[in-house]
Amino acid sequence: MDLLKILVIGSGGREHSICWKLAQSQLIDKIYCAPGNPGIAQEAKCEITSIAVLDFQAQVEFCEQKKISFVIVGPDNPLACGIVDYLQQNNIKVFGPNKQCAKLEWSKIYAKEFMMLNKIPTAKYLIGNGYNDALAKLKANPWLKVFKADGLCYGKGVYVANDNNDSSECINLLYQNALNKDNQAQIVMEEKLCGIEMSLFLLCDGKQAYPFYTSQDYKRRYDHDQGPNTGGMGAYSPHELYADWNQLIEKYIIKPINNNFHNAQFDYIGILYVGIMLVKDSTKNELIPYVLEFNARFGDPETQAMLPLLNSDLAYLCLNAINGNLNQNMITWSNAKSIAVVTVLNQYPNPTQPSIITNMPEETNNFKLFQAGTVRQNDQLIAQSGRVIAAVAFDYDYTQAYHIVYNKIKEIKYNNIDYRKDIALHLVQS
Ligand code: AMP
Ligand code: GLY
Repeated sequence: MDLLKILVIGSGGREHSICWKLAQSQLIDKIYCAPGNPGIAQEAKCEITSIAVLDFQAQVEFCEQKKISFVIVGPDNPLACGIVDYLQQNNIKVFGPNKQCAKLEWSKIYAKEFMMLNKIPTAKYLIGNGYNDALAKLKANPWLKVFKADGLCYGKGVYVANDNNDSSECINLLYQNALNKDNQAQIVMEEKLCGIEMSLFLLCDGKQAYPFYTSQDYKRRYDHDQGPNTGGMGAYSPHELYADWNQLIEKYIIKPINNNFHNAQFDYIGILYVGIMLVKDSTKNELIPYVLEFNARFGDPETQAMLPLLNSDLAYLCLNAINGNLNQNMITWSNAKSIAVVTVLNQYPNPTQPSIITNMPEETNNFKLFQAGTVRQNDQLIAQSGRVIAAVAFDYDYTQAYHIVYNKIKEIKYNNIDYRKDIALHLVQS
């Protein structure tokens, strides 16, 4: 077989970790990333190209010109806009779900209907058909505490009522901020579940979903889960409870998903990310994994935490997923544990002045940096926006990984750097 040439779409830390992992594959000759970032440009076999993630026609032309073997799509937005359908119509192979399958992410209402149809445990809900209807339904149903915009909102589409924030205020905020005052927009309104969260990643080949791996991400901006939701401030992998819960997750979540795949010709290819809450059901006195959401892609920063632990060849897995030939034995992991900590500019999630990065720690065989919100200008690396760098340590246990990552991250130097200090802290032994 000729060596593979791959095009990765995206520019974040997730795409950096995908490119880095692909570069280790013996099957691969060349990795292009559009538009990529300065960190990706430095990886072996990698080259960045300035094609935008939504410029599908330019991507097709690039694939034809470079004889790309297949494309891997990182972010949600091009998936929701039909990148997979477009590339496939042009005879280009893609690792990622088509627009209809990706609807599990881009419509929360569709995701809820999918769960109801397939009897997958999920929070009780009602649909708000516009602002006035949402408020009226809330009045009649005071148990509604969680409010979600139907479409993609880049991490800003969910409001959960708490002590400082009552339900009607959540509805106001959702319509004002995430929905740009579109008072006709539909929303999902849910009961609030309490439990432990877990991110489960399934690898799908159009016929079946196979457990890939697990992680825990930290969505809140500040330590001890304070402050606003963000794209993700850190993650560790694997999730420490998966071994205890995998049979229940198989029974309540993976089996029904696979029944749907078989019965409904749901030819999902790529990663299906399942956001789970492990809940103690008081009425049944049973522990049940509930699905909070689906995403049609790898998580960010969960991917940066997971991929350093993957023993299998990522290119081989993607190729077999595209060709409908996966099996569980192909997916193997090291026993190590990893922790990813994301650095930001301190005003994040609000924008701040960019700042020059004056020092980066050395990478080792158990420590890696994945760049996201960086740009290179006149030979200087700049912390430009949002999440800047994911520092990832992987070692034989969480304690060791924690000490490595927090010792090394101190060496990253730019003005107004900030990061959470408590990623995986509960797993650290003193
Ligand atoms: P989602 O984008 O649906 O995962 O929601 C973002 C975050 O909101 C989740 O990671 C949870 O922390 C929280 N969340 C979502 N749905 C619920 C729910 N029904 N009950 C409690 N928390 C929730
Ligand atoms: N870490 C959350 C996400 O990727 O959506």
